[in-house]
Amino acid sequence: MIPPTLTKSATDETSLDFPDHALARVRDILKARRNFDIGSYKDKYLKRRIAIRVRATHSATADAYCELVARNEGELELLVKGLTIHVSQFFRNRPTFEKLREEVLPALFERLRCDGRDHVTFWSVGCASGEEPYSLAIILRDSFGEELKQFKVSLVATDINEGILNAACTGAYSPERLAEVPAGVKERYFSPVGDRFLLAPAVREMVEFRRSDLFNPDSSIESDLILCRNVLIYFERGEQARILHGFASSLRTGGVLVLGKAETLVGEVRQRFTTLCPVERIYQKSRFSVY
Ligand SMILES: C[S@@+](CC[C@H](N)C(=O)[O-])C[C@H]1O[C@@H](n2cnc3c(N)ncnc32)[C@H](O)[C@@H]1O
Repeated sequence: MIPPTLTKSATDETSLDFPDHALARVRDILKARRNFDIGSYKDKYLKRRIAIRVRATHSATADAYCELVARNEGELELLVKGLTIHVSQFFRNRPTFEKLREEVLPALFERLRCDGRDHVTFWSVGCASGEEPYSLAIILRDSFGEELKQFKVSLVATDINEGILNAACTGAYSPERLAEVPAGVKERYFSPVGDRFLLAPAVREMVEFRRSDLFNPDSSIESDLILCRNVLIYFERGEQARILHGFASSLRTGGVLVLGKAETLVGEVRQRFTTLCPVERIYQKSRFSVY
């Protein structure tokens, strides 16, 4: 029989044992020393992630762990890493990228042509180590060569974590990050270097990486298409609504928003979008909105 301490519910309880006062202390330390505001993240998520560090450091209590974080730079860094999950893959949820290639991007370029536009802006929010914006860049190169000549294309990718953005700029990936890459793409755009695959400079040069916190309104980018996938899930519902309103304001008229498969529009912001594809979580900013 599995001992009760190893069951899932017991693990969850351990995470909930991290008391509110200790969470508040961790929040203050992160804000003061890293200017990292975790106030918008779900408490349950934070407590679960911090509990992993408490166990890894063999801290006897939550307060002992707070003391450790307060005086140890190395642990502070590991905690920041532990709180921001960077799992990603090239062409993650491939049908979403197929939908973009086959329907969304052709319609977007067509509309821009009709509107007489000569530039287009793509924004990947919470881009982790770059797999998502680079996947879009590959699609643009492979399927929209003419449009790349006609339009000035800006492809901006942002994340809160500086270390992960350095990795994105380097563009070297372990094989599992390429598991969903379509046939032929690996051969055309990646070269093996040791046990990793290096992305071609021509694709790397298409993406501009910037560090920014998506809660900072000053960092929003006026865009035609926003990809924000597998980021909202970490935040409280009210914060999700706030972020989504921010996206609706950043998108140009008719602009497109792509969320992760486990994410959706919440609350009143639904009135500011129409759904283009419910399965792939693709939404378009409504032309007529009360806002
Ligand atoms: C799970 S990854 C998602 C990567 C990619 N979008 C994908 O779907 O494969 C979540 C990313 O969101 C970033 N993130 C978390 N909080 C953020 C914030 N407040 N502002 C900007 N990025 C944030 C994390 O650093 C992490 O790289």
